[in-house]
Amino acid sequence: MTLVSLAGMLRKARCEGYAVGGFYAWNLELVQSVVNAAEGECSPAVLLINQTGLNYAGLEYYAAFAKKAAEKATVPIVLHLDHAQNLELVTQCIRCGFSSVMFDGSAFPLETNIELTRKVVEAAHGVGVSVEAELGRVPRAGNGLPVEVSEASMTDPDEARRFVDTTGIDALAVSVGTVHGLYKRYARLDFNRLKRIGDLTDVPLVLHGGTGIPDDAVHKAVELGVCKINVGEALRRAYLNGLKGALGNNSGKNDVMDVLASARLEAENVVRGKMRLFRSAGKAD
Ligand code: 13P
Repeated sequence: MTLVSLAGMLRKARCEGYAVGGFYAWNLELVQSVVNAAEGECSPAVLLINQTGLNYAGLEYYAAFAKKAAEKATVPIVLHLDHAQNLELVTQCIRCGFSSVMFDGSAFPLETNIELTRKVVEAAHGVGVSVEAELGRVPRAGNGLPVEVSEASMTDPDEARRFVDTTGIDALAVSVGTVHGLYKRYARLDFNRLKRIGDLTDVPLVLHGGTGIPDDAVHKAVELGVCKINVGEALRRAYLNGLKGALGNNSGKNDVMDVLASARLEAENVVRGKMRLFRSAGKAD
């Protein structure tokens, strides 16, 4: 197994009725948390990083260790750029070996989003890289508290059909009530809207804001065509809690590697739990 494209991974997930987790991995230890969890659970996984994370780590450093981790993994791993807002970053990541990119043109009017997404698809598909794009807008929670997800920011099913047909994307991120960065409450999903989008499009659907989706809603969403769920906040919290615990007065941990290993393990356990919840565990064949 090795670094694979998102398109093939999601095709299998769709056929077999599970979702693959996209997990934020901002540094070396978190990349290891995700890959270790995937190997331990015999699950496929998607490593996620965005522009901010790449600014922190440096694109070439990050791509080198994340790609190596994926290539050496015993299970399929996708290296995915999340929420790119310009073509330049997409091109740089493709050059550095990412196997999948998400272009987020959701802030633009529909026609501009279509035009820019098509350009990304053209550049990416030419070299075997998959493309996810977003229609509608998934809001961000303030301080872990939900913001109102207005109807206007949700994905319109008819527009989704046109968007998918005219862009040729491999996966569509939809706004159906989820919120980025939620941890104090759960999101309420608009399943009727999700069903209509699934009925009208023939593409794997993606939910962002995976931390704030209740367990039973995950399973219903998968039944309606969701094949990838992104998780960031839950990992961020687990990793930071692991660090805090290991740095606490009574932990007896004074070595940098011991402290980082504790955080890595906390995050790995969260990823393992999500893989079981998403039913991707045992699906890495
Ligand atoms: P959460 O941080 O809410 O889990 O969402 C992550 C995400 O959707 C990244 O694209």
